[in-house]
Order: sequence, then structure tokens, then C-alpha cells
Amino acid sequence: MQNKKELSQPCTLLAIESSCDETSAAVLHNGQILSNIIANQTIHEAYGGVVPELASREHQKNIVPVVHQALAQAQIHKRDLQAIAFTQGPGLLGSLLVGSSFAKSMAWGLQIPLLTVNHMQAHILAHFIDEPRPKFPFLCLTVSGGHTQIVLVRDYLTMEIIGETQDDAVGEAFDKTAKLLNLPYPGGPLIDKYAQQGNPLAFSFPAVDMPELNFSFSGIKTAFLYFLQKNVAQNPNFVGENLADICASVQHTLVHILLKKLRKASQQTQIKEIAIAGGVSANSGLRKALSEMGKKMDWQIYIPDFQYCTDNAAMIAMAAYCKFQQGIFADQTASPMPRMEF
Ligand code: KG4
Ligand code: ZN
Repeated sequence: MQNKKELSQPCTLLAIESSCDETSAAVLHNGQILSNIIANQTIHEAYGGVVPELASREHQKNIVPVVHQALAQAQIHKRDLQAIAFTQGPGLLGSLLVGSSFAKSMAWGLQIPLLTVNHMQAHILAHFIDEPRPKFPFLCLTVSGGHTQIVLVRDYLTMEIIGETQDDAVGEAFDKTAKLLNLPYPGGPLIDKYAQQGNPLAFSFPAVDMPELNFSFSGIKTAFLYFLQKNVAQNPNFVGENLADICASVQHTLVHILLKKLRKASQQTQIKEIAIAGGVSANSGLRKALSEMGKKMDWQIYIPDFQYCTDNAAMIAMAAYCKFQQGIFADQTASPMPRMEF
């Protein structure tokens, strides 16, 4: 199946994303994204992580203005919509409930069909928003705050997880490391920022090599805690004096683990179309290292635009569009699935 040609049915739809701490709405018209509005929740910064109860309350405050803005920017009236899509999972139950209830009510009010979307599939399908689009089959390293997976993508909606983390997600490893350095949540982008001035080989951290194509990141977090405790005991200013080198070294270790498994997956499957997706795909160290590895291994690589790396409704709209093409609709009984699988 050769991608773009398949996505040709006319359709105007509204998509809603509310799986974690971003409230987002997007309008898609015939495969083109007309708007993608994202309200970030800064309330969690003070708590060092997402507080589920606060996240759902923020979604409740944000959802109406975000949807209004998405329709206004797209210059689409709600009566022109042919379907409404929402993220069914995986995610936080309270957060998912806000998006799903809103989408269901609106679809019921307008008497139009509903589409449910798997958030992790949507991260991958964000690659079909703009050119260049990967060719099937391709491998996607999906790296976010909750997931770390290597996915074999055979077709838009036919995907198989061939490797994944057995404990923490890599985004969690970035965020927890940052927390130990007293950086605010989410710490991943800050580690990335400081790492740019540092030496990636200044410090080393033991990486646990998991069998097959799986990952483990919880050991690194513990090793990092002991590393900090030891060095701060010797020099209370250790973190302040070495922040860039510490961040660069942690990032280097995490990126190395990811790419080692990605290379193994490519060798095993003989697939050289390689994509990355999810919040951590915004990491400059990962983007650079993947580009270098791509040249060395003769891969065709696909790196998403920054706006489509972290959570957004444009990717939900694109995934919903793929389902619309195939006539896979949901009904009013569709409820949130916090642990949804492919
Ligand atoms: O995909 P996403 O927005 O939400 C989930 O589905 O989880 O990913 C959020 C994760 C957070 O852990 C955040 O720290 C991480 O992506 N992240 C980054 C960067 N930007 C976002 N990690 C490292 N470097 C970045 N530049
Ligand atoms: Zn996500």
C-alpha cells in the first residue's frame, strides 16, 4: 500500500487530545491540518510531575476555549464537521474522561460519527501530516513520558510492538534525572538545553542491556542518584559546577541505549525506513545521533517537526482520518481506556 494515495477521501473532522497534561484540539480537512491548538498546563511544574486530579480539572477549564479556537482558526463551522475524534487511551483516566465526554456530547448534538484513537499510534501517524512520509513497512522508535517502544508499522493501522521498556519510559528517565538536579517538570527539555554546552563523555552511567529489543531505564535512575549523592558529599557545589557535563552525559547514555536497540531492530527486520516519534523525539541529542546513524547505516530517516513531537491533537486528527478512510467508527459506548494497547 503506498501511503498518500490511500488517504484521499474528502472529510472534515475535529480531533481532541486530553490524555495527559495538554488540552488540544485540531481540525483536519481532506488530510490537511487547518488548526492545532494546544493549551499547556503549567500548574504541575511546582509538583515535579503531573498531578492527575489537577490535570483533569485543567482540561475542564481549557476544553471549550481550545475547541472554539481550533474551529475559528480553521474557519470551519461545527455544522461542517463530518466526524469527531478523541484519544481513547492510553493515558490518565480523569484526563481522558474530559476529552471523551466532550467529544461524545458534541458528536451526539451534531448527529455525526465518532472516531476513537490510540494515542501511541497517533504519535506514529503524525509522520503522515507532512512530507516526506515513511514508506511501509517502517520501524518507529516511539519515545514519550509513558512509553518506549520499537514499533513495526506495516500499514496505517497495522502495527506491532517488537520491543519496549520493561520498567520506566525514557521520558520518565529524563524527567526523574532532572528532578534530582532540582530542575522543574518536565525536565527533559531542560536536560536537552544544558546538554548542548556540556561534554557527553564527562561521566559514565551503567546501562542495563535487556534481552531482545527491550529496554530498561530504572537502573540508570538509581545509578544516577548514587552518583549524585557520592559527588555532592565530596563537593556541595558539584551540581552547579558541572550541570552541563552531567546533562550531556545522561543524555548521551539514554540516546545510546535507544539507538543500539533501534539498530538491532533494523538488522533483525532488514527494514531501513526508520522514524522516531513522541515527546522525546524533540531531543536534539537523539535527533543528531539518529541522523548520523542513518547516514552510516544507509537508513532513510524520518524525524517529526517539533510541533508534532509532544502531545497535540493534529496527530489524533491524522490517525482518525486513517480510520475514517477505512470506515472504522465508534459509538457512544466508547469509553476511555487508560491502558489501551494497539
Ligand atoms: O509525548 P509526550 O508529550 O507525552 C506523553 O505521551 O508522555 O512526551 C512527554 C515527554 C516528557 O517526559 C518530556 O520530558 C519529554 O517528552 N521531552 C523531552 C524533550 N521534549 C519533551 N525529553 C528530552 N528532550 C527534549 N527536548
Ligand atoms: Zn504522547
